Formats: sequence, structure tokens, C-alpha cells
Amino acid sequence: MKLRIATCTTLPEVDVDAAPLASALAAAGFAAEIVAWDDPAADWDAPIPTVIRSTWNYALDVTRFLAWVDRASAAAPLINPPSIVRGNVHKRYLLELAARGVAVVPTILVERGGAHDRSHDLAPLAESRMVIKPAVGAGSLGTRVFEPGDPDALAHLGTLTATGAALVQPYVRSVDGYGERSLVWIDGALSHAIRKSPRFAGDVERIDGPFPIADDERDLAEAALAPFRDLLYGRVDLARDDAGQPMVMELELVEPSLFFARQPGSAERYAAGLRRRLASS
Ligand SMILES: Nc1ncnc2c1ncn2[C@@H]1O[C@H](COP(=O)(O)OP(=O)(O)O)[C@@H](O)[C@H]1O
Ligand SMILES: [Mg+2]
Repeated sequence: MKLRIATCTTLPEVDVDAAPLASALAAAGFAAEIVAWDDPAADWDAPIPTVIRSTWNYALDVTRFLAWVDRASAAAPLINPPSIVRGNVHKRYLLELAARGVAVVPTILVERGGAHDRSHDLAPLAESRMVIKPAVGAGSLGTRVFEPGDPDALAHLGTLTATGAALVQPYVRSVDGYGERSLVWIDGALSHAIRKSPRFAGDVERIDGPFPIADDERDLAEAALAPFRDLLYGRVDLARDDAGQPMVMELELVEPSLFFARQPGSAERYAAGLRRRLASS
């Protein structure tokens, strides 16, 4: 069965999932071709199913990316599906998770042009270290941490909100030692967890693991994923607050690394889940 794996023309970093995924897809009978979503020469109208993998530059032009999502999904299935991708490219989904009662990192959403809008009371946050990042972002692009009282914080917020919405969050200290835990979801079940070291604009990603999934982390990830249980893949990134309670830092349903190499059998489960979905579509 023909398949397209969507990447981007200039990968900002190595895709560690590419090799294990290629073997698993070949073994499952797929003839997979890697195609950049932003390659003007690619024929995205061909009726070939597509899985989104390493489209990591999409945040630079999300409007164009969403137009591609529509195009790539018109003639054949796109996985994850377009509605899921649309709902997940903007981190305002964190507020939706919170409204569903899922613990998330405390987040203030500042809309485009709203840096000096008095409806956002950033004063309590200014007492502590804070993180300011774009609402549409990937790979830590534009994500910066500020010490209490640093006037550059407001300047950075102004820069980000000149072109789009931004998030302001307290700096979550557990990312330093315990680390950010990424819980990988494949074909209806949590598969494995890895640890990510803190990463801000310009840093490279460092990971280790797999780690056992603590019960409270499993419960929180399952709650975050409750409406998305049918998806082939997803990833929940968690941190812990100062009292030790887990909170969602990110729910990745577009193009998360899935760290297949860390968990034998996980790429094969992805390939089998994909086959089943395409057979019934
Ligand atoms: N509130 C926060 N506290 C501490 N570190 C943070 C916080 N928000 C982001 N980070 C760091 O910045 C990285 C990127 O932020 P994240 O929200 O995961 O966006 P993305 O991965 O889409 O760029 C995280 O992996 C983490 O290392
Ligand atoms: Mg992240």
C-alpha cells in the first residue's frame, strides 16, 4: 500500500524516528515515500494516504500549513485527521484542557496585539521566573525564560504578540531535575515515557529513558487524551508543580517525536494501527 510520510524541506534537527519507522512500515507492507509538506514540486493532490511526521517548520507559516492539511486530506486520509491538527496547532488548547478539569501548567493567553492590554494581570507572575512562548510554536522557537522583574519579558511579549498570540506561564522548576516527561500514545494505549531536559530557544533536544510511567502521570495523560483515544498517535508532555502534582505542559497531536527506538515494538504497533485505519477508511 502506498503511503506518504510528511516532513519539511529543511529539517531543523535530525528525526530520530525516521529509521525505525521506515523499517516497521516496510515490514507491514507499506511502500512509503518521504515528502516535504512545503515542497512546491510535490503532488499533494494524488490519492495517497499521508501520515504527518516531521513537519517541524509549520509554525513559521501556520496558515500555509493548514492550507496544506486541507489539500493533503482532500483525496486520501491524512493522519492525524485535519480537525485534530487544526485544534492542536494553537496552544490555546491548554485552556480547553483546563476547562475539562485536566491539570495544566498555569497559563495566561495573550492575544495578538494584547501585550499592553490591561485585562491580563501579569503582576503575580512577575514575582517569579516566567516563561513566555508563542501560542503557535514548535521546537522551542521563541520560548524564553525571564528572571523576576526583567524588563525584557514585556519586550519579548510585545515582539511575539506583534504577529500572533503568546502564552505566559510560571517557570516550572521540576523540568530541571525530574525533567519534562513525554508519554507516548500509540494506537489506543500509552506506550512509553521518556525524559526531556529543559530546552529554550536555540537549545538542542536531549532525551533519556524510557522511564516507568507513574500512576498519577498515567491518570493525567489518559484524562488529557480522553477525547482523542481513537487517534493513531499523540504525546502528552508533563511536568510537576512544586507540590509534586503532575500537570500537562503540552499535548502534541500534530508532529511529535515518538521515540520509537526507546521502546521495542512501538514502531510496529504504529504501523499495524495505521494499516487497520487505512483498511477501514
Ligand atoms: N512553564 C515552563 N516552565 C519551564 N520550562 C518550560 C515551560 N514552558 C516551556 N518550557 C521549556 O521550553 C520547552 C518548549 O516549550 P513547549 O511548551 O514544550 O513548546 P514546543 O515544544 O512546542 O516548542 C519545553 O520543552 C521546556 O523545556
Ligand atoms: Mg515541547
